[in-house]
Amino acid sequence: MSEDLTLEDIPGIGRITAKKLRNAGIFSVKQLAMYTTEELVDIGIDDSRATSILRAARRAVRQKALVLTAIEHEKLMKSFHLLTTGVKAIDDLLGGGLEPQSIYELAGEFGTGKTQICHQLAVTVQLTPNRGGVNGKAMYIDTEGTFSLQRIYPIAERFGIDLDHIKKNILVAKPMNVEDLEELVRGELVKYVEEGVKLIVVDSIIALYRAEFKGREMLARRQQRINYLLDWLKRIGKTYNTYTVITNQVLDRPLGFGPVVKVPTGGNIIAHASTHRLYLKREGDIWKLEVLDSPKIARKASVCFRITDIGVEDV
Ligand SMILES: Nc1ncnc2c1ncn2[C@@H]1O[C@H](COP(=O)(O)OP(=O)(O)OP(=O)(O)O)[C@@H](O)[C@H]1O
Ligand SMILES: [Mg+2]
Repeated sequence: MSEDLTLEDIPGIGRITAKKLRNAGIFSVKQLAMYTTEELVDIGIDDSRATSILRAARRAVRQKALVLTAIEHEKLMKSFHLLTTGVKAIDDLLGGGLEPQSIYELAGEFGTGKTQICHQLAVTVQLTPNRGGVNGKAMYIDTEGTFSLQRIYPIAERFGIDLDHIKKNILVAKPMNVEDLEELVRGELVKYVEEGVKLIVVDSIIALYRAEFKGREMLARRQQRINYLLDWLKRIGKTYNTYTVITNQVLDRPLGFGPVVKVPTGGNIIAHASTHRLYLKREGDIWKLEVLDSPKIARKASVCFRITDIGVEDV
């Protein structure tokens, strides 16, 4: 119902305001409802109008009450499909698979399987619900240039998905810098989500920021910008029930004179924004996924997996 509304159906949006919104990449009422007053002011809409059209847009798209009883909340959570990773041990650890609306962070050193898991999810999201998928498309935001269609092929074959189908349903974006990335997430990504993208991968979340905001004096600014992007990914997740996976690098943190521990980069901002933080390790031919932080899985719970020519598999 709210899908059929056009911007002009919202009280307070006339021809001129609608044009401003569309010029800024805002095409649907649902998308508009994700914005804040400040963001609309930034695109040239005056303050009081911004507030009132946002209120009207939110009212128009809200399908459920803001406050739910715990029973209703549980029912809602159970109605969400869990997306399979294609690895039973990992799915079991996660409580059945990835839940929508949350941000999953895969952190680990190079070669620990972050990119491999993301590739596999870009395939499993396309499976039918009875096989653990959601009949969805994937948006692979590749900031490190490691997306590989060649790598997708054997995984697709393993899951019995037609290659032509696969090629159409995986969208790859290669933002050049942080501004590109922000613009993509706020604008075009939402358009694709409205057209069936269910999985959003950002591999990696940190690379562009590290390259662009160098040195201590830029740190606060960098953190603020990362926060802004993650906040948008969350808004999209909550509005459209998308599955979101970000990858992160790790840094050595010395413990006094003692051992060095590996911690995900991005400090409190990424730690706070990620719903489920998962740490990946490689020990010879076995890889390990360990829970660093999650509201529903015990910290340090872990499982093993392996990476083979057909993707990520159970041991
Ligand atoms: N075709 C394949 N067959 C077997 N193993 C593979 C294949 N492709 C990749 N791998 C394994 O996956 C590992 C790479 O994992 P991945 O690219 O996911 O690392 P990553 O965690 O994303 O690292 P980085 O931080 O460098 O991005 C390789 O070291 C290799 O062991
Ligand atoms: Mg990688």
